[in-house]
Amino acid sequence: MVASRSQLTSWQLLKEQADVLKDVHLQQLFAQDANRFSTFSVEIPGVLFDYSKQLVTEKVRDALVSLANECELTQWRDKMFAGEKINITEGRAVLHTALRNRAKTPIVVDGENVTEQVETELAKIKGFVEKVRSGQWLGYTGKAVKDVVSIGVGGSNLGPQMATEALASYVDDTLNVHYVSNVDGVQIAHVLKKVNPETTLFVVSSKTFTTSETMTNASTAVKWLRAAAGDNSAIAKHFVAVSTNLEKTAAFGIADENVFTMWDWVGGRFSMWSAIGLPIALYLGFDAFIDMLEGAFEVDTHFQQAPLSDNIPVLMGLLSVWNASFLDHRAQAILPYDQALHMLPAYLQQGEMESNGKSVTFAGSAVNYTTVPLIWGMTGINGQHAFYQYLHQGTTIVPADFIGSVQSQCEVDDHHTILMSNFFAQSEAMMNGVSAQQVREELAAKGVNEEQIAQLVEHKVHQGNRPTTSILLDKVDAKALGRLIALYEHKIFVQGIILEICSFDQWGVELGKGLAKNIESELRDNRIAEHDSSTSGLMAYYQAKRQ
Ligand code: F6P
Repeated sequence: MVASRSQLTSWQLLKEQADVLKDVHLQQLFAQDANRFSTFSVEIPGVLFDYSKQLVTEKVRDALVSLANECELTQWRDKMFAGEKINITEGRAVLHTALRNRAKTPIVVDGENVTEQVETELAKIKGFVEKVRSGQWLGYTGKAVKDVVSIGVGGSNLGPQMATEALASYVDDTLNVHYVSNVDGVQIAHVLKKVNPETTLFVVSSKTFTTSETMTNASTAVKWLRAAAGDNSAIAKHFVAVSTNLEKTAAFGIADENVFTMWDWVGGRFSMWSAIGLPIALYLGFDAFIDMLEGAFEVDTHFQQAPLSDNIPVLMGLLSVWNASFLDHRAQAILPYDQALHMLPAYLQQGEMESNGKSVTFAGSAVNYTTVPLIWGMTGINGQHAFYQYLHQGTTIVPADFIGSVQSQCEVDDHHTILMSNFFAQSEAMMNGVSAQQVREELAAKGVNEEQIAQLVEHKVHQGNRPTTSILLDKVDAKALGRLIALYEHKIFVQGIILEICSFDQWGVELGKGLAKNIESELRDNRIAEHDSSTSGLMAYYQAKRQ
């Protein structure tokens, strides 16, 4: 019987260290080591990773690294890159890294060299993208495409949308891109109002091609097009699909040559490097898409080669385990100080929480520790005017990732200076806090009288000691985005291995889906089957009001 993680020597040592450090303030750690920043930061091309404001010591870092070794992290990592079936409950390889294997080294899965398959697909994407962007791809009235509507949800939406939002500063005016992911008719109605059927291309992305929301949206788009074009022949000119399921795409009416494939060894939430990224390539051009792959490939190489104590995704994963499973901080904030990355928190919510929001180990036994923290966030500046009060003076400590860039995509007057002064100041304030003594001196210097100071002081004290990591990119461009996302992907992998959970299945999404299907037929038939009184009461109220 393999010892459970919490029985490992390093796990026990980390528990002891957590007891020691819970009475230590980050200020003390900085006071003790003038070189703390250089001791706890790592640089790779285009990225500075500073974790010196995390509540760690060299002793903790060493214990975390030995935990990684006791969990055979590097062996698991090598299995992943080699295409072994580490998605143990679905019996699949996990090879999003093969999608950006720019060295084009062979990777064989079930006798197939997947690298060749990827290269063939990339060539197909390149040809299609150039045809559409050059105006050679014509719609049913002979006009070139002007609007791309991406229909997909979860990993078939979040990656492309996050990326095109992140890189919108670089686009020319060749194509517009729109996203429909929610089955709420409001979203597709608003999009269809904005586009012309003669010049619109729909990209229906669904790994399974069975996801109800996506199929519903795609059917509505077909009806909309057919109403305008008058017959089905237009579908071939205005619909392409991205899926593993050629049977379903054919049944939907999309010819095989208009289907871009992906493979079962690509997890939905790790799929934007595959043809799921078609909207990115269409909107930004194929070269930008390749740049994104290049950036990710650099990080894959770093992850495979850097010593664990200097390995950024390894450190990210270990720090998250340290904060959540040892220091009991059950949330983690993602705070981009770059508007281009405004969708990063939403993207990472799926990436992190659909991967590691689990509670049983590889062997199926219940874990006895916190697994993934709640991932949330928003652009830092906007967060400062929304929830930073909570972060600074709340009763819950939330470790946060601050992500900023040296150069802005759009240098406007002194905006970037103001933006980055907040990036630096806020993590400093979270670390240092402000003492009662400092508050008193500050108020006295403003001439506030003793009585008012006595009333105010406790309200103005900030405990500080809020741990943060700061990630500084040179500039958010396609390559930088590829690096950043790959860092988080490998962080997620590291966390799963340390926590001994399968990060690559998602059985937790099935129950709700199944119940929704049953209730959908009850609503269609205007009946209510056996439910708890709340569900029955809600459905009865809804049905009565809908009459
Ligand atoms: O959320 C469940 C899920 O299966 C995700 O893992 C996936 O990205 C999403 O639904 C969409 O799935 P598909 O690409 O098969 O439509």
